Amino acid sequence: MTVRFSGCAGKSARATSALDGTPKSNIDRLPAVGGRDLSAALPPRVILSEEAALFPSVRAARTSRLAVEESLFVPSAIRRAPRPLNLIFFWVPLNPGGVTPRRSTEVVPFHPSRAPNRKMKGRGTRPMNSSMIQNRIVTVFGAYGHTARFVVRELLRRGFTPILSGRDASKLKEAGNAHPGLEVRVASVDDPASLDRALVGAAAVINCAGPFIDTAAPVIDAALRASIHYLDVAAEQAAVLTVFERFASAARGAGVVVAPAMAFYGGLGDLLATAAMGDWDTADEICIATALDSWKPTRGTRLTGARNPGRHFIFSNNRLERADPPPARKWNFPPPFGEQDVVGLALAETITISRHLQTPEIRVYINLAPITELRDPKTPAPSAADESGRSSQTFVMEAIARRGSVERRAVAQGRDIYAITAPIVVEATHRVVRGLTKKTGVVAAGEAFAAQDFLTSLSPSHLSFEMQ
Ligand SMILES: NC(=O)c1ccc[n+]([C@@H]2O[C@H](COP(=O)([O-])OP(=O)(O)OC[C@H]3O[C@@H](n4cnc5c(N)ncnc54)[C@H](OP(=O)(O)O)[C@@H]3O)[C@@H](O)[C@H]2O)c1
Repeated sequence: MTVRFSGCAGKSARATSALDGTPKSNIDRLPAVGGRDLSAALPPRVILSEEAALFPSVRAARTSRLAVEESLFVPSAIRRAPRPLNLIFFWVPLNPGGVTPRRSTEVVPFHPSRAPNRKMKGRGTRPMNSSMIQNRIVTVFGAYGHTARFVVRELLRRGFTPILSGRDASKLKEAGNAHPGLEVRVASVDDPASLDRALVGAAAVINCAGPFIDTAAPVIDAALRASIHYLDVAAEQAAVLTVFERFASAARGAGVVVAPAMAFYGGLGDLLATAAMGDWDTADEICIATALDSWKPTRGTRLTGARNPGRHFIFSNNRLERADPPPARKWNFPPPFGEQDVVGLALAETITISRHLQTPEIRVYINLAPITELRDPKTPAPSAADESGRSSQTFVMEAIARRGSVERRAVAQGRDIYAITAPIVVEATHRVVRGLTKKTGVVAAGEAFAAQDFLTSLSPSHLSFEMQ
């Protein structure tokens, strides 16, 4: 299908003016044109096949709170498209010297069946699912766990309305007491009907109940029955791999996003690796190295480790297989960590990166000291160091993409690997619910989102992020 458009509505131009002064590295400039008919200025590929250009830009949609799906900005030809389209967004800043169209490099899937269509209203046709876009209700499964408490607080801070769900009624009630007014819904993975009830009215579910090898599949099944998005914070390789293999086509078919491992382990490394790759299509090797000054594990971390015994997955020679981790070595981290002994780490990022970045070798390391602490059964659970609830634990994670002798590096530093998971999964939820993902189906973080933009959005309040 070929879609052309023209014109620049006053409202979209106003919307875009909010962008001037917030230039982003993922925005390209197009040659200036004197008139308002943008179609003349578009590169040909933009109006070919499934790609279509629209006002306003992805970024405008986000920063000015104008939903991409607002029908005012969606030409009817696109609104009536028989199947989902990939959209590239353009906008025209109102500068006095003329009109310079700009484009976002983000490609956003647009689902005609979900877009609001004013003409359809009142004709008995199902209205556009603008309600899904506007819906800020998110069910948190496992809501009384350590990580989930950070997630619930972050959802509230971002203007979402969490529904607290989990299997233990009394723990759930206690969690509800901390947030009067929030709904609590008891649900168990052994009782699909209870999961269905837990998801009623929500736009997405965030699963924080791990081991995910026990919970991911039943909660995703429920999300698919409800046609809502699913995100989790799994670090487990086997669980995440199963999600990719088992649910890819069902999630794509349902037009929803299933995003496992949107967390410190998994999502953050994947985003850093994707950012480090930049415009490279391939790399000879991708390395992720993490340093923690300590690791006080939660009960969930210990249980999850115990549920995933034996050899884990590594990705080498273009193959994902259960094998021994890469040998121990030294790694020179940024200050304050400096040179550290590191050992291989086999967590979710190996799985997610291997799904979408082209490289024959993925090596993941962590410094030895926190692993020794983690293995000691006497190491206590994390404790709050201040009123934010975060522990004093600090981390640095860096991703290096190497091609020949050229290396590209992306680095994140911050505090508390459990707490940092909350802004990661909530930012992902925000983008997913607003339709700001590159694709639907089962997705890795860097595959779904513009990695650098995502990481920049977390910086500096949640972590520091730097490209080197
Ligand atoms: N990828 C990462 O970077 C990252 C970061 C943080 C956490 N995580 C993962 O997230 C999970 C939770 O960690 P946490 O620190 O929050 O641990 P936690 O405080 O022990 O919380 C675990 C939660 O999961 C629930 N749960 C466990 N098994 C369940 C099941 N079969 N059905 C329903 N609920 C179940 C627990 O409920 P009960 O109390 O009723 O058992 C509890 O609410 C772990 O798997 C951990 O590895 C990963």
